[in-house]
This record gives sequence, structure tokens and C-alpha cells, in this order.
Amino acid sequence: MSDTPIDFLLSRRSVKFVQAPGPSDDELGRILQSAMSAPDHGRLQPWRFALIRGQAIGRLTDLSIAAVKEAGMPFPPEKEASTRRWLDKVPLLIALACRLDHANTKIPEHERMLATGAAVTNILNAAHMLGYAAYWSTGLGTYLDDVADALGFDALDYRFMGFVSIGTPIATPAPMPRPDYQQFVTEWNGI
Ligand SMILES: Cc1cc2nc3c(=O)[nH]c(=O)nc-3n(C[C@H](O)[C@H](O)[C@H](O)COP(=O)(O)O)c2cc1C
Repeated sequence: MSDTPIDFLLSRRSVKFVQAPGPSDDELGRILQSAMSAPDHGRLQPWRFALIRGQAIGRLTDLSIAAVKEAGMPFPPEKEASTRRWLDKVPLLIALACRLDHANTKIPEHERMLATGAAVTNILNAAHMLGYAAYWSTGLGTYLDDVADALGFDALDYRFMGFVSIGTPIATPAPMPRPDYQQFVTEWNGI
């Protein structure tokens, strides 16, 4: 199924439930390096990443859950328990942010966001190519200033874009059915 690079790319799917081992330092370096080859108008390099590993994952879990409760968002005890069970096993989280760089007004903000999103997609694909599973989430209080601030991504200078978890799948992931691309493509011939 995944004989060639293109087959491998087509087989990528998100997997939420992962455990150790996560990528080695060398593998993580390559995964993060893949973000540097994302398309990037004006070479603004707007992507920023914060690595969260080991006991820091427990600290982030506590901080996020406290922020969600503080904000009055619905968060029943079962949801808290399942969130803690999930994160307890995750070996690596990467917090994702786009630097706004207000001084540079030539390239619109949405293009920086797109470049950062492209960088994150490279991370998802690179993790997959190295045999790990990854998952992009905007849960864990992503849209709460307290969480973004604690990670160093204050709302004045950054758009905080959530987290990618990376690790070894707990269960073998089934192939993800994908739509036929033809549903999404038209041919424009100018007539
Ligand atoms: C910006 C962004 C944020 C996301 N946030 C969440 C999330 O908070 N919770 C969730 O279940 N899926 C979220 N997803 C979707 C998953 O990451 C994943 O794409 C989805 O489960 C489909 O799996 P696939 O990537 O294999 O198609 C998000 C995706 C993107 C692009």
C-alpha cells in the first residue's frame, strides 16, 4: 500500500491516541526541519513551535483544564477524566503559533496563517513518514488567552493555533476512507 513516497503520503491519517515511544531527538529535529520547507510568502517564517514533553505535559493538562473551567466552558467530569487519560500517554505535544509581525504590513495576516498551517501539515506528514502518528487539535483551551499566554504566545503578537500530538499509535490505525478528488475539482478553460 505505501510502496512509494506518493502512496505513503496518500496513506497519512490523523491518530489521536498515541503512547511512547515518541520521536528521538534526531527524528524530532527532522520533523521540525520539515516545517522550514513550507511555502512562505516574503520568507517571513511566521511559524513558532513550543515543545511540551515529560512532566510538562501534565502541567499543561492541569493549566488547560483549569482555564477551561475558569472560562465557564462546559467540561463534565467524564470529559476531564478522558482528557487526562489521553494526555497521560502522549509522549510529545508541539504547541503551534503564527507570529503576527505587525511591523511587516505588506503581506496580509491570513498569508502568515496559511504558511504556518502549511508548516504544520509538513510536520504531520514528516511524523507519518518516520512511522509515528500525529494529530492536530485545537482543544485544551487553545482559544483561551491564559493558555496561549502561559505558552509564550500572547494574543498581541501571535495567533495560537493549537497542538500537534506525536507518538506511537496505541491501536493499529485503519486506513481512512478519502473522498474522490474529482468532487472538488473543475476545469476552467476560459470560454
Ligand atoms: C486547525 C485544525 C484543528 C483541529 N482541531 C481538532 C480538535 O480540536 N478536535 C478534533 O477532534 N479534531 C480536530 N481537528 C481534526 C483532526 O486533526 C483530523 O484532521 C481529523 O480527525 C481528520 O483526520 P484526518 O487528518 O486523518 O483526515 C483539527 C484539524 C485542524 C486542521
